[in-house]
Amino acid sequence: MANILILYSTTDGHTLEICQKLMAINEQAHNQVSLVDLKEVEKIDPRTFDKIVIGASIRYGKHCPRVTEFIKRNQKVLESKPNAFFSVNVVARKPEKSTPETNPYLQKFLRKLAWHPKNLAVFAGKIDYPSYGFLDRQMIRFIMWMTHGPTHREAVVDFTDWNKVDDFGRLIVKM
Ligand SMILES: Cc1cc2nc3c(=O)[nH]c(=O)nc-3n(C[C@H](O)[C@H](O)[C@H](O)COP(=O)(O)O)c2cc1C
Repeated sequence: MANILILYSTTDGHTLEICQKLMAINEQAHNQVSLVDLKEVEKIDPRTFDKIVIGASIRYGKHCPRVTEFIKRNQKVLESKPNAFFSVNVVARKPEKSTPETNPYLQKFLRKLAWHPKNLAVFAGKIDYPSYGFLDRQMIRFIMWMTHGPTHREAVVDFTDWNKVDDFGRLIVKM
């Protein structure tokens, strides 16, 4: 049995939903999983876990600065254990931008870090226009219009390939 830490950064809860799926798969494999918001990371000691997974969504081109801060502060701990990182963004709905090697946000993020995660994934996120404030909704609708995505103001579209999430969950069991 491994003691696994899954850290996440989310704005609208979709990355958390992905983490909950990863958690369920790892618990079914008889591991102990702690799911922790990066906002509350001070409450835990990453050194006490056997494996560490970090997941974060993209908002206006960037992951939350908390993600980079945690990684920089804990690089040695991360490197001493099996580890993984995944990014959630809607650009990844495009097949040609859906892998760690081809997703521009993940690539840019990794270039800024000295940490090389041992395992990587990219998941397409969710669009939920009714839940956004006016400005965010208009901005995302405009970006979607430019990139041939859904623009209807009531549209709710989950682009996540949940089979891919399952595969990543199983990879965490084995890593
Ligand atoms: C205000 C806002 C800005 C976003 N900016 C981007 C972006 O720049 N690039 C992108 O690919 N996706 C962008 N997204 C899509 C999110 O990454 C996607 O909705 C994801 O599922 C959000 O995950 P979360 O709920 O865990 O924060 C944006 C979404 C919102 C609401």
